[in-house]
Amino acid sequence: MTVKVLFVCLGNICRSPTAEGVFRQRVDENGLADDIEIESAGTSGYHAGEFPDTRAISAAHRRGYDISSITSRQVSMSDYEEFDYILAMDRSNLSYLIDSAPNHHESKIQLFLEFANGFREKEVPDPYYGGDKGFDHVIDLIESAADGLLNHLLEKREA
Ligand code: 4NP
Repeated sequence: MTVKVLFVCLGNICRSPTAEGVFRQRVDENGLADDIEIESAGTSGYHAGEFPDTRAISAAHRRGYDISSITSRQVSMSDYEEFDYILAMDRSNLSYLIDSAPNHHESKIQLFLEFANGFREKEVPDPYYGGDKGFDHVIDLIESAADGLLNHLLEKREA
């Protein structure tokens, strides 16, 4: 059975495409590309159709991920039906998703960093108005949560 995972931030040009790229690499490396489908989206449509922010592309590239061909799109109502896991980067994204979701789909929505280990933070901070260091920290957090999410899905599959 295919599991579908959607990563969500505000613009879908910094954090959620990074999460998509990092998690896709983990999934591919583990031979799970046919079992886990991955997309990302923004709560806003401000950047719809755009490629990721060049700073996000560079930060990802420095760590061995290629996110350069991902294009931004806004979350749509059909996403709540289609995806099994809808993972918000921060609490503002989380509130938007919970407020917009049909009631019976709320349980699919949670903070992505619930799956991270070794960090106190529960939110991936918005790096848009900061410097390159912010983008590197975003990847630190996302890598940890991606590992945790993959382990969670593998454990569920064995159960
Ligand atoms: P993201 O970052 O939500 O991680 O993609 C942002 C991108 C754009 C804006 C804010 C955050 N913006 O205000 O345009």
